[in-house]
Amino acid sequence: MEIFIDSADTKEIERWVKMGIADGVTTNPSIMLRDGVYDMEKGAKEIAALIHPRPVSVEVTTNDLDEMISQAKKLASWAPNIAIKIPQITQDGTPCYGVIRQLESEGIRVNATVALSLGQVILAAKAGATYISIFTGRVSDEGGNASEVIKNSADWLRRWEYESRIIVGSIRSVGEILQAAIAGAHIITIPPQFLTRMADHKYTRETVRQFVTDAQKALEMMAKKT
Ligand code: E4P
Repeated sequence: MEIFIDSADTKEIERWVKMGIADGVTTNPSIMLRDGVYDMEKGAKEIAALIHPRPVSVEVTTNDLDEMISQAKKLASWAPNIAIKIPQITQDGTPCYGVIRQLESEGIRVNATVALSLGQVILAAKAGATYISIFTGRVSDEGGNASEVIKNSADWLRRWEYESRIIVGSIRSVGEILQAAIAGAHIITIPPQFLTRMADHKYTRETVRQFVTDAQKALEMMAKKT
């Protein structure tokens, strides 16, 4: 299973790359805005260079299907490791699978984003998406069973030998990360604050404190004997 960093904060991305944890990065227009990246081109290029050769997903910002294709081509030209996020449907419900199909057929990797159901995962896989992003937090917001959607999607892709990889995003807790891992997510994209929380444990801290203190005591004993 791979871990992506769900952030546009270059300091955090670099930190997790250096630790060997980050296998990729995902962004969206809201993440860019939140992390102060107003110049999308500059921000995307910086992240792409940091994470290279691993992928970074950058999202189109239009509801017009033709415009999606031209925007996607422009975004993809910024760096060789940029994958393009195309939503399953527009805000008015028009399916975007034709866009996914065309971009993939032209060698542009697509992350079919905002998937909230197994049905959408099936359609995105058939259109040829490299990645399909299931938004676990938003599935739960609506009272859905996110683990079931992830497990059924992973099972279905395996049964029919599709190569699309599931990215689980929209993480709101460490519990959701673990549930997604158990349910069979290929990739989980995690906001940095949850990675820090995932690493932490009160009793691990206490145990480490005990070892450091005892090592100090042993040094003092040695000093006394000499
Ligand atoms: C990941 O690819 C998504 O862009 C992100 O996790 C969405 O999270 P949200 O539901 O908190 O907006």
